Amino acid sequence: MKSILRGIGSYVPEKILDNKELSLKVETSDDWIRTRTGIRERRIAASDQPTSELALNAARKAIEAAQIQTDQIDLVIVATITPDMAFPSTACILQHKLGLGKVACFDLEAACSGFLYSLDVADGMLASGRYKCALVIGAEKMSSILDWEDRTTCVLFGDGAGAAIIMTEGVGPNLVGFRSGADGSNPSLLHQPAGGSKQPASIASIENREHFLKMNGKEIFKSAVRVMEKATRELLKANGLETQDVDHVIPHQANVRIVESMAQRLEIPLEKFFCNLDRHGNTSAASIPIAFDEACQRGLFRKGEIGVLVAFGAGLTWSATLIRF
Ligand code: UT7
Repeated sequence: MKSILRGIGSYVPEKILDNKELSLKVETSDDWIRTRTGIRERRIAASDQPTSELALNAARKAIEAAQIQTDQIDLVIVATITPDMAFPSTACILQHKLGLGKVACFDLEAACSGFLYSLDVADGMLASGRYKCALVIGAEKMSSILDWEDRTTCVLFGDGAGAAIIMTEGVGPNLVGFRSGADGSNPSLLHQPAGGSKQPASIASIENREHFLKMNGKEIFKSAVRVMEKATRELLKANGLETQDVDHVIPHQANVRIVESMAQRLEIPLEKFFCNLDRHGNTSAASIPIAFDEACQRGLFRKGEIGVLVAFGAGLTWSATLIRF
């Protein structure tokens, strides 16, 4: 029994923050950001748009694309590191906003790999036979955890959401393989130090700006290339495929230089990699479903082709999904 991607949809907020406008906030330049990352602009959610609102807009589009009724959905997974609040889950908040039945809802935290982890989990839950129709979402309001005085991080991220309807019946691309992993040995490479049980909010934590995202960019860069290459190779091998069998790669949209290095190491032509990070920056768990939706809308996929979705993120986590279109 294979999971089928019945429909996909995405949403990004209206407000565009381009590199020029950003260079008025912190000491940076359009040239530095473009040449070091490939990013030209990113979307920023309004103050009255929490993550659940971004998710809601994406979910409605995915439901429409899948041509299903909302009462068919019996499982909701929201991948996010920027939930509306620590609890209840953004998935529960979304359930009410969408007017769904009293179905299973939970958030999944695997940072930028969260959407692909959620596909892996949803596939297992559908395969159990206890669930029939999963709404899987990657949604982030990264602007809410960025330090807008730290030029080494605030230029990299953006807000948005992508959603997919996954079922075991009907027509659509097949999700045929999954490979997820993690290495928790060095959590401080990319983290939000305060606000959890280790360091609850205090005047000192706020003064030290410890509720914002902190990152060792250079180390994350090196790990990203290594683990995405490894996850892709392992996924292909487990499914009896070679890198030359791959028609499309949708990588996590963090930095065009990471994508270029990965393409080189995998010896897969760069033209097979879909990139939209120039317009969105890194939207964390939302990056893959937004890119996937845009690629679908451009009509890039042909029936029978093979696609790899691959991501890495804080944790460190990684995950890869194999698709047969
Ligand atoms: O989803 C996972 C999330 N994270 C990532 O994917 C990030 C992975 N890492 C990266 O993408 C890259 O490491 C960065 C884009 C973050 C940084 O690029 P880099 O080529 O590794 O630059 P660097 O950190 O070595 O910085 C080079 C210089 C430094 O100046 P000095 O020390 O050489 O004088 C930085 O202070 O660039 C400076 N710099 C900036 N200059 C202008 C750092 N950020 C900026 C900036 N504007 N925004």
